[in-house]
Amino acid sequence: MKGLVLSGGKGTRLRPLTYTGAKQLVPLANKPVLFYVVEDLVSAGITDIGIVVGDTAEQIEAAVGDGSAFGCQVSYIRQDRPGGLAHAVLTARHWLGEDRFVMYLGDNFIQGGIGRYVESFRSSSAAAHVLLYHVPNPQDFGVVEVSDGRIISLEEKPRDPRSDLALVGIYFFDHGIHEAVRAIEPSWRGELEITDAIRRLLVTGLEVVPHVLDGWFIDTGKMEDMLDANRLVLQDIKRRIDGRVADDCTVQGNVVVEEGAEVIGSTLRGPLIIGTGACVEGSYVGPFTAIGPYCTVRGSEIEHTIVMQRSQIVDVPHRIEDSLIGCDVTVSRSHSRPKAYKMMLGDHSKVGIL
Ligand code: DAU
Repeated sequence: MKGLVLSGGKGTRLRPLTYTGAKQLVPLANKPVLFYVVEDLVSAGITDIGIVVGDTAEQIEAAVGDGSAFGCQVSYIRQDRPGGLAHAVLTARHWLGEDRFVMYLGDNFIQGGIGRYVESFRSSSAAAHVLLYHVPNPQDFGVVEVSDGRIISLEEKPRDPRSDLALVGIYFFDHGIHEAVRAIEPSWRGELEITDAIRRLLVTGLEVVPHVLDGWFIDTGKMEDMLDANRLVLQDIKRRIDGRVADDCTVQGNVVVEEGAEVIGSTLRGPLIIGTGACVEGSYVGPFTAIGPYCTVRGSEIEHTIVMQRSQIVDVPHRIEDSLIGCDVTVSRSHSRPKAYKMMLGDHSKVGIL
């Protein structure tokens, strides 16, 4: 079985963080979402992986390379435009050949991995298996209606959803999908929708098996979910101190301090991660925080926040919470009001704080 990972698209939904970067490379606990996807495929025994890339091809290729660092072989498939998930399958037709494959959206993240679903598909003769998840906002997803274990309707981002079961962006297909993606027309948003292709499989009498996920699912392509995803990943980390933590520090809970990081005169209350080359001094870093590589946190308090690489948080007089801070950002003391910090800052931003 092959793995087809979708990392094209424009990422406009994650702006401003993705004006310059690929959304699949936004980090959760200091690791790009896309790396979790590739690792999940490899741990399910899928090592022949094709990554569909678009405008941000260069960054994706630089990050993932030939796959050897992950124990797999990666081929890159260039999609000329973000024409939809079914268009990506059309684009990958030659690479896929007649093989069965898992299609995995490069910004999707599920708890517990795909292993058991891969096994279930391997031992089944169905044309497709899909994963479903109960969500509070089904209108933002492909929505599936199931009755007696069978799919009775499928619709992409419906205005009036018929159920709260969203399609997770992980799909299992056999070669039958190629006929289906050729047969469909672009949707109202001008894309060839994989949801329409799956409906086509059903209409032509092929079997599509639904599985409702046990664990959680997060589409990190939607910004508001990033902090949730970061929290869920950090919840499972194990304590590891490879960097230098001075004796005058207090360290509680599951804390990861990467090699080359330095912590002085600070309190760390996990779960949290401090990336390589980062410096934390005279500060409090609280639960569910990811401080990226080569960041500086000095004279400040920060909690439940993602700080991406090389950013500086210096002498901020109030605690920073629930924030997402891009790369190369500087947050330092200034004198304006009100005294509250709630931020979503893009790459290269500079913010002055009271
Ligand atoms: O996250 C699950 C949802 O993913 C499903 O419920 C929907 O049915 C499905 O259509 C999809 O919806 P999104 O609107 O979230 O898809 P998005 O356009 O964000 O693209 C998902 C990923 O696929 C993203 O990593 C970019 C990549 N992509 C997207 C398009 C449109 C491509 O590689 N090529 C493309 O042409």
